[in-house]
Amino acid sequence: MSLAIWVCESDYDFDRVAAEWVAAHLEGPDPVLGLPTGGTPEGLYRELVRMHREEGLSFRSARTFNLDEYVGLAADHAQSYAHYMRERLFRHVDIDPSRTHIPNGLCEDPDEEARRYDALLREHGPIRAQVLGIGSNGHIGFNEPGTAFKTRTHTVQLTEETREANARFFESIDEVPRLAVTMGIANILESEAILLMAKGSSKQEALKRAFTDPPSIDVPASALQTHADVTVLVDREAAVGLAALLSQGPDGS
Ligand code: F6R
Repeated sequence: MSLAIWVCESDYDFDRVAAEWVAAHLEGPDPVLGLPTGGTPEGLYRELVRMHREEGLSFRSARTFNLDEYVGLAADHAQSYAHYMRERLFRHVDIDPSRTHIPNGLCEDPDEEARRYDALLREHGPIRAQVLGIGSNGHIGFNEPGTAFKTRTHTVQLTEETREANARFFESIDEVPRLAVTMGIANILESEAILLMAKGSSKQEALKRAFTDPPSIDVPASALQTHADVTVLVDREAAVGLAALLSQGPDGS
C-alpha cells in the first residue's frame, strides 16, 4: 500500500488542498475525473469554482464520472446527484455537459443502466483522479459493507444506516430512495490516483477500520489498501482514527 495522510487544520486548508490535488490532475490531455457528492466535498467544489473564476482553472478538456446516483430521482430533482453536481460545479465552470457522466436515476432497468455506465467507464477510462468520501460504515460510493472488491458498476439496496445518514438532505427518511446505481469497488481501484476525504468524529471508526485493520469486505474502504496511490485527506477530528499511522498524533503530540 502506498498511503499518504494529510491532516488539515481548518476547513479552508482542507478544501484548498483537495482542490489543488484535483487541479494538478487536470493537467495533461483528456483528464478523466471520478467525483463524489455528499457533505464533505461541498467546499472542494466551491474552491474549484473560485479557482476557475479567479485563476483560470479550466475544465474544457475534462471528462467526469460521478460515483453514484439514486434510482427513482430525475436529474432535476433537488436531491438527485445530477442536480447536486450541476448546482455546485458544472454550471459554474467551462466543462462540456456532454462529458459529464452520472448514472440515469430515471432509467427503466437499473441493472441495464449499471451495465451501460460500466461500458462507458471502460470506453473512457481509466479514471486519472478519483475523489472519494467515506460513509460512517466504511462505504465508498454506495458500495455497502459486504460488497466484493471485484464488483463493477451495479445496483445496490441502500442500508438503513446510509439512508438515515442521508435523510438530512430530504424532508423525511421516507423520501430517501432505497436503491442506487454505483460504480463498483473494482472501478474505483482501476483509477490511477485516489483522494479519500473525511471530516469529523463520525468518520474516525470507519477510517481506523479501513486503514489499520487487514482489508475486509465488511469495510469497503479497506480495499484501498490494495491500491498503489492513495491520499487520505482528513481534518483533526477524523485524523484521530488514523493516529496509529501518523508519526505525530493529530494533536501534534
Ligand atoms: C456520494 C458517495 C458516498 C459519500 C459518503 C460520505 O457520491 O459516494 O460514498 O461520499 O456517504 O458522505 P458525506 O460526505 O455526506 O459524509
